[in-house]
Amino acid sequence: MALILDDIVCEYATGTALAAVALDAVSLTLSRGDLVVVLGPTGSGKTTLLRAAAGLLSVSRGRVEIDGLPASGRGSARGAVGLLFQRPESQFFSLSVAEDCAFGPRNLGRTPDEALEDARDALSAVGLDPVTFGPREPWSLSGGEARRAAFAGVLAMHPRYLLLDEPTAGLDAEGRRSVCEAIESARAGAGVLVVTHDAEMFLDSADRVLVLRAGRPVFDGDVPALLEALPRLSEAGDVDPPEVPRALMLARERGLLAPGTLTLDIDRAAALIAEGLSSGGARS
Ligand SMILES: Nc1ncnc2c1ncn2[C@@H]1O[C@H](COP(=O)(O)OP(=O)(O)OP(=O)(O)O)[C@@H](O)[C@H]1O
Ligand SMILES: [Mg+2]
Repeated sequence: MALILDDIVCEYATGTALAAVALDAVSLTLSRGDLVVVLGPTGSGKTTLLRAAAGLLSVSRGRVEIDGLPASGRGSARGAVGLLFQRPESQFFSLSVAEDCAFGPRNLGRTPDEALEDARDALSAVGLDPVTFGPREPWSLSGGEARRAAFAGVLAMHPRYLLLDEPTAGLDAEGRRSVCEAIESARAGAGVLVVTHDAEMFLDSADRVLVLRAGRPVFDGDVPALLEALPRLSEAGDVDPPEVPRALMLARERGLLAPGTLTLDIDRAAALIAEGLSSGGARS
């Protein structure tokens, strides 16, 4: 049981002078419980990948399959996938936040009361008090609140696969933490695919990382392998390194550390730098 993208190619404006390949030969398997992180610069195809995985965009080559069923069309796996859009405001269409979050579960057959309960639970899960925020008009929310409310609307449907486009963009530290906690608890019953520029927040718990450049995979592996490849990916402009490995890379460049494994752990990084200082650096 998994969401599978097998060697997919996606093209926009096919057959016109503006035709452009946005994804080329991308494969990915997302199983329940997995956290897969997708990184890459602007325009590299990350949103396109999520849209293809959600069955919102047809692929011109390859296969998209959800638990053995096609991602779109007749016989597709209805309700299996929840997609959080990059621009959350494009996701609202009800008069109140609670109704908006309850729409998905109602559509999937829950009674109105059950759907409202799902909505309340989901709002709490993303750190929005349902009593305060439930009755609010969605367009009256601040940017960070709107992003969290849109995420609650996706969580309320209990999808088996969560596809999240920049879930922490524009959030403060507390908002980022709430979203990450909600993702961690959702992961007990769902596979999570996160597109992000906030690598810092997700790499600690990621099972796998895919890095795209101009629609093509330039890295696909686990976090230790990503840390090893980080200097190369950073130099090519494919990944903005998180602060801790960035500090270690700078320390290396200044001859303070011998080439070796980078880490995300700040205590380990501090210990490595202290060792480097006390031994007079890698060149001594
Ligand atoms: N509807 C469309 N028609 C034509 N080209 C498109 C369309 N949508 C996206 N593209 C192009 O496809 C490429 C990939 O876009 P995509 O939105 O997947 O990038 P992204 O990695 O999500 O970028 P960002 O980090 O800025 O969100 C870009 O060059 C974009 O201009
Ligand atoms: Mg995008």
